This record gives sequence, C-alpha cells and structure tokens, in this order.
Amino acid sequence: MRILVLGGDGYLGWPTSMYLAVKGHEVFAIDNYLRRTVALATNSEALIPSPNLEERAQTFKDVTGSEIGVRIGDLRDIKVMEEAINGFKPDAVIHYAEQPSAPYSMMGYDEALLTLDNNLKVTFNLVWSVINHRPECHIIKLGTMGEYGTPEIDIEEGWIEIEHKGRRGRFLFPRQAGSLYHTTKIMDTDLLWFYVRTFGLTVTDLMQGPVYGLSSDETELDSRLLPNFHYDDIFGTVINRFLVQAVAGEPLTVYGAGGQTRGYLNLRDTLQCVELAALNAPEKGTLRVFNQLTECFTVNEIAERIQRTGNRMRLDVKIERIDNPRKEAEQHYYNPVHTGLLELGLKPHHMTDEVLDGMLETILPYKERINRGVIQPRVRWS
Ligand SMILES: NC(=O)c1ccc[n+]([C@@H]2O[C@H](COP(=O)([O-])OP(=O)(O)OC[C@H]3O[C@@H](n4cnc5c(N)ncnc54)[C@H](O)[C@@H]3O)[C@@H](O)[C@H]2O)c1
Repeated sequence: MRILVLGGDGYLGWPTSMYLAVKGHEVFAIDNYLRRTVALATNSEALIPSPNLEERAQTFKDVTGSEIGVRIGDLRDIKVMEEAINGFKPDAVIHYAEQPSAPYSMMGYDEALLTLDNNLKVTFNLVWSVINHRPECHIIKLGTMGEYGTPEIDIEEGWIEIEHKGRRGRFLFPRQAGSLYHTTKIMDTDLLWFYVRTFGLTVTDLMQGPVYGLSSDETELDSRLLPNFHYDDIFGTVINRFLVQAVAGEPLTVYGAGGQTRGYLNLRDTLQCVELAALNAPEKGTLRVFNQLTECFTVNEIAERIQRTGNRMRLDVKIERIDNPRKEAEQHYYNPVHTGLLELGLKPHHMTDEVLDGMLETILPYKERINRGVIQPRVRWS
C-alpha cells in the first residue's frame, strides 16, 4: 500500500514508518519538528539523542536497503498537506501529527492555543485535502482513550446504543476529557464524524492508551534508529518517568492515591494495530472506532512493577506519594471494551518483567544525561 505518515519523526511515527517500509509498503513521512522545538523550549529534551528525520531515513536505508520518503513541512499549511496528498496519492494516511502532551496544553494561554490550533488545523487540512484530491483514501487517525475520561459505566468501542423514552439510537460514546489536549482529540473526532456523514470519507479512529517501549524489530537494528524517549513531567509518560527515576536513584513519585487506571500497550502493538487498520479498511463512508490497548494497570501497579525491575538490577527503588498536579479521579471504575483489533488479528505483547528489564537496560547507559530538575511536576491543572 502507499501509506503517508503525518508526524513521521515522532515517538510513534518513526517506528511506524520503518515497520511499514520493511513490510513492503511505500511510505512517505512528513514532520515539522514541533515535538523537538517544544521540548527544547520547555527544557524537556529526549534522553537518548536522536538524529533528525532525514538522517534517520538515510541510516535506515543503509541498514535495511528499504526507503522512506521524507519531507520537513508544517501540515497547518494547506499547501504542504495538499502537496502530500495530491503528490503521493496515498491509499491510507496515518495521522499522528499533533501536540500530544496534556501538561503542555495546561501550561497557559499560549500553549493551550498552540495545541488547539495545531491539532484541529492539521486534522481539518487533512480532511479537505482528502476531499479535494483523494476521496477514496482511508484516514487512520490517532485518538486517545483519554477522550472517554473515567465514566462509571463500561467504555464501549466508540459507539453506544441508547434507549430514551421508549426509543433507541446509536451515538458516539460520551466523551469527557481531563485536559485541553485530550479535548482537542474529542473535537477531532467530531470533525471527522461530521465529514464522514456529509462527504462520505472513510475513517478509522484509534482510541489509543499510553504506549511504552523502545523496541521494535527495526529500532533494534541500530541505536540511531531508536525512537524519542522523554522522561520529564511534560512529555514523559508515567512509565518513562518511573524508569528514569529508578535509574537516577530517586523515588518513583506517584500522583495522589495512585488508583488512576489506564489501558496501556507496547510499541510493537501500536505498529501492528495501524497496519491492521490499513490492511482492513472499513466500508467506504464510515467512521470505525477501535479502543487500542492491551492491558489495564493502576499507577500504583506500574510503580510496583518498576520497583521490582529496578531491584532486580540492584537499584534500591523507593515509592513516594506526592500531591496530584492534575484534576482527575484517583480511584475509579474502569472497564474498556477492546476486542475490535484482536478480531483483526492483533497479537499482544504484554508488559512482562523481561520487557521492563529491556527498557531499563536501554536507558542505563544514558544515566549521566538525566536532568533531575525536570521530572517533578512543573505544571498544575489550576
Ligand atoms: N504516545 C502515546 O502514548 C500516545 C497515546 C495515545 C495517543 N497518542 C497519539 O498518537 C499521536 C503520536 O503521538 P507521539 O507520542 O508519537 O507524539 P510525538 O509528539 O512524538 O509525535 C507527533 C509528531 O507530529 C509532529 N507534528 C505535530 N504537529 C505537526 C504539524 N503541524 N506539522 C507537521 N508535523 C507535526 C511532531 O513534530 C511530532 O514529531 C498523537 O496524535 C498522540 O495524540 C499517543
């Protein structure tokens, strides 16, 4: 297939581009380095130095013989988006190109506006470029499980049947996000659903949980092909922060009671999921939604697992509770349905001791690069 990856320099975009290219797809990746720019501006640079996208593509070609087309461009510019869609003529577009940090979106007016403007404009430009130049193209959009929040009922896979005053209807599952970033993802979904209904676009919305891991068959070929690894309070996920705290000899800091439950997945499974979505497009003119996660953990469970991982490597790891900088339920019901991707053939890689040991071993050589001053919360929700 001809697959366009928007945000191809990102944590997920780069391993995805390599994975698809090795599988024999024709891949073109676009990025404007927003992640790198914002990380620099907030003193949140990645732990492992990563070459730029053009250098990565060259290394990948040298190592594997496969090619990934790359372009540096801002997809908020409709001309950049149109050239990509009209020039490359993709069968599927994987849309990762957003500002994905919840804390960044809560820093203040400028950061909130950048998140809102960037995320919605890229989605809007994609929709219009597909309508005008490639209406048969399948849009695969990365949403997030965070769109649903933590309701008191089971989270269905995108849609819910509602019976009201004796009549029934099928609606998008209610969404109530806990940050502005997550709210932009809800707005994306609404935009896409509108254009599916009115213009007959074909869309898969992947409601993804937090992804962990640095390993895929391709990232393991050469350390220059590793994905971005952020561990600070703004771009680091809880798993990355805990692993780096363990390496730095600092206690793992749990926000509040630690009962916050989320559905996680291994990087290798994200790669499988996006390819499965591309190979199995939904019926033309439909919005299909999958919940993209493989297992659920509380923050306390993650902390305990990483404590055990660290202790296996003779790092004396402690766990500490700190005030929660976010507004979120710290103990709650959580039961998301996630059968759609399994039915398409997803073979999950679970968060085993071996996987966590492997992540810690990859990080250990970079211990001296850890900036201890950026791990504790610098952003509060109020
Ligand atoms: N990583 C996760 O755990 C996770 C979980 C759920 C959802 N997601 C979603 O998956 C997507 C990718 O996440 P990620 O972790 O790889 O983030 P990332 O920040 O590493 O990657 C996004 C990439 O898009 C690029 N980008 C952003 N705006 C752009 C623009 N206007 N023009 C061109 N390029 C632009 C950035 O420079 C970056 O390289 C995001 O949409 C995110 O919301 C990620």
